[in-house]
Amino acid sequence: MKITEGLSLLFLALSSSTSAADYTPTDNILLNCGAASNLTDRENRTWVPDVKSKFFSSGDSKTSPAATKDPSVPEVPFMTARIFRSPFTYSFPVAAGRKFVRLYFHFDAYQGLNATNSLFSVSLGPFTLMKNFSAHQTAEVLNCSSIVKEFIVHVEAGNLRMRFTPESAYAFVNGIEVTSMPDLYSSTYGTSTVVGSSSVVAIDNSTALENVYRLNAGGKDISPSHDTVGLYRFWYEDSSYIFGALSGLAVKAEPNMKIMYPRGTPKSIAPHDVYSTARSMSATSELNLQFNLTWVFMVDSGFSYFLRLHFCEVFLSIDKSNQRVFTIYLNNLGIKNRHSRKYV
Ligand SMILES: *[C@@H]1O[C@H](CO)[C@@H](O)[C@H](O)[C@H]1NC(C)=O
Ligand SMILES: *[C@@H]1O[C@H](CO)[C@@H](O)[C@H](O)[C@H]1NC(C)=O
Ligand SMILES: *[C@@H]1O[C@H](CO)[C@@H](O)[C@H](O)[C@H]1NC(C)=O
Ligand SMILES: *[C@@H]1O[C@H](CO)[C@@H](O)[C@H](O)[C@H]1NC(C)=O
Ligand SMILES: *[C@@H]1O[C@H](CO)[C@@H](O)[C@H](O)[C@H]1NC(C)=O
Ligand SMILES: *[C@@H]1O[C@H](CO)[C@@H](O)[C@H](O)[C@H]1NC(C)=O
Ligand SMILES: *[C@@H]1O[C@H](CO)[C@@H](O)[C@H](O)[C@H]1NC(C)=O
Repeated sequence: MKITEGLSLLFLALSSSTSAADYTPTDNILLNCGAASNLTDRENRTWVPDVKSKFFSSGDSKTSPAATKDPSVPEVPFMTARIFRSPFTYSFPVAAGRKFVRLYFHFDAYQGLNATNSLFSVSLGPFTLMKNFSAHQTAEVLNCSSIVKEFIVHVEAGNLRMRFTPESAYAFVNGIEVTSMPDLYSSTYGTSTVVGSSSVVAIDNSTALENVYRLNAGGKDISPSHDTVGLYRFWYEDSSYIFGALSGLAVKAEPNMKIMYPRGTPKSIAPHDVYSTARSMSATSELNLQFNLTWVFMVDSGFSYFLRLHFCEVFLSIDKSNQRVFTIYLNNLGIKNRHSRKYV
């Protein structure tokens, strides 16, 4: 099956030190579009310039600095851009395997061209990553002028061709990242089923995913340099997604508690910081039976969403099966009754 529209991916980390190194990406390309020299970002990652880049394949383009210096937007890679008035292709030589492809955009004006008028599509080999994308609308929804789009694709060895196609006046991009990743979403770690049915979903080499939300429940933001070494994911605090006045309790593992990963599960599935904090309901079971702890996520219709919940019991007093039992509903559909034990 060839999927040309990316599936959207919904990550949610329920529960949550320092990350353990167990992954070295074979491909780790950080291209700072429109820049002329190596620059280091806030996460201490070095970005190479794309001026006279070996990754250009075809098409005309120009470079431009961003018109406004916004202190809330990181300088690297957001303050310079490459502008395309006609289709343009980058070609990245990569090894076979799964990659994180992250695209960085800063909604601003470039060469007097206001990005309000920019609409464009981006494809990667057979996959359409973004169709008629508007940085303006996205920045408005996010209430933030810097935008990072993250995709997961599988590629065969050779060249990864990324094509920008303007749908209006022009297309632009500020930074492109292509980083190898371990296979974290295939059936190796359990099968995924469609909620409300028993159909199994296979995430195989022909499936492309887009990250929509990746949250650290009950904890703080985890920046890419604090994720499992080599993966550079951003995990956001979950509090702004809680629906209603009852937001439960943000709890933390005791400092001497050792977080253990089940045998066969790589530590790269999520860092310790994710498992060492949790959002729990209240301390009294009578109250807990009277409310639901609910998160709400805005998503685009027309896509399938992959949801992964991470669990780790952080209370030392809960050490037996069935001491903590609950039901999870997804759009009112019950998933299952589950009891957490002291592992992921
Ligand atoms: C720029 O950074 C890349 C990747 O870290 C490195 O290979 C290259 O030598 C650097 N170039 C210069 C001029 O420092
Ligand atoms: C970046 O590196 C500098 C110097 O090595 C260090 O002081 C700083 O804490 C690092 N920042 C991050 C976000 O890792
Ligand atoms: C998926 O691609 C990898 C190479 O990246 C290959 O080893 C594996 O056999 C492929 N899986 C299938 C089912 O084609
Ligand atoms: C771009 O246009 C929008 C709406 O027309 C305006 O609010 C914004 O200030 C402009 N930005 C720049 C950098 O000119
Ligand atoms: C892109 O969006 C604009 C405005 O929303 C619309 O007018 C245009 O037809 C769309 N183009 C494509 C190719 O979907
Ligand atoms: C948008 O962000 C600014 C600060 O970056 C904040 O002051 C403002 O309240 C936010 N607006 C909304 C609607 O969240
Ligand atoms: C919790 O949500 C489920 C599914 O929507 C609903 O059936 C149930 O009545 C709710 N429970 C409470 C206490 O609100």
